Amino acid sequence: MSTVLVTGGNRGIGLEIVKQLAQTNQFKTIYLGARDVTKGTKALSSIPSSSTKIQVIPLDVTSNQSIQETVQFFSNEKLNVLIHNAGILIDGKTGKGSLYEAQQTLAVNYFGVINLNTALFDKMDEKTGRIIVVSSRMGQLKSKGKGLQIGNLEHFTTTEQVSALANEYIDAVKTNTVKQQGWDMYSYSPSYSISKCLVNAYVRVFDTLLKQRGSSITINSMCPNWVKTEIGGNSAPHEASFGAQTAVYLATSKDVENRSGGFYGEMRQLPF
Ligand SMILES: NC(=O)c1ccc[n+]([C@@H]2O[C@H](COP(=O)([O-])OP(=O)(O)OC[C@H]3O[C@@H](n4cnc5c(N)ncnc54)[C@H](OP(=O)(O)O)[C@@H]3O)[C@@H](O)[C@H]2O)c1
Repeated sequence: MSTVLVTGGNRGIGLEIVKQLAQTNQFKTIYLGARDVTKGTKALSSIPSSSTKIQVIPLDVTSNQSIQETVQFFSNEKLNVLIHNAGILIDGKTGKGSLYEAQQTLAVNYFGVINLNTALFDKMDEKTGRIIVVSSRMGQLKSKGKGLQIGNLEHFTTTEQVSALANEYIDAVKTNTVKQQGWDMYSYSPSYSISKCLVNAYVRVFDTLLKQRGSSITINSMCPNWVKTEIGGNSAPHEASFGAQTAVYLATSKDVENRSGGFYGEMRQLPF
């Protein structure tokens, strides 16, 4: 019996992941990360009862203090599964890609993932640890450019290189040179798409680092498909529970035991 932490677990796909994980009876404790504990506690009432303990923990992935408190929280316990689910899509409506949108989006969807992952890595169970990043097909690398193309990515060997590209994008927005610098192929929700491309790039780099280190911990990225949540909106063709399935599969299935560095959707591997 093991432990799992789900970020952004108080609503949407994250809450559905918590519900479905609880039903597997494979976990001793599920930690439901919520930046607002009141919202997290309220969400508990919607989770069907099971033998799994569900505990709300405060976690804002953009706050270093909150991340450090989470590390402290796990000082006497190993984590078996870490699901980076928290995310925002704030540039969908305007499509302009303002500086505020770029900074906020990358702070949650990119830097939030890598900062929490780096901080919690030592708390992961060395033998069974699984890290799952809820990304998006909007960040699928194969269709994107600006150094995030799959060919270029093969030259990326460190997290710092990916983060430098993230900062390059923010600088391009700041200096109004997005087009000149070749970032303009991201026409719909540019900051969101770029944040998900970057996080996919990070998953590939981190997987290589894990393999070099001989670690048994795995990391995989996934798309939940287009589902009805605050991010997905009401026109989405699927329910949030559908989106949660692939995360639960990656967290629990024997099929993916020891499989790392992949991008998944609908419980099968897709090209990055
Ligand atoms: N819905 C889709 O169609 C779709 C498609 C592809 C990918 N995704 C991805 O799926 C993930 C979950 O999204 P969703 O659709 O379930 O959206 P959602 O209903 O808007 O839920 C987002 C969750 O992230 C949390 N969050 C936001 N900022 C945070 C922060 N700084 N620290 C910690 N938690 C934070 C939110 O907490 P609050 O309640 O406090 O705001 C909420 O719990 C995201 O990564 C998203 O990009 C969704």
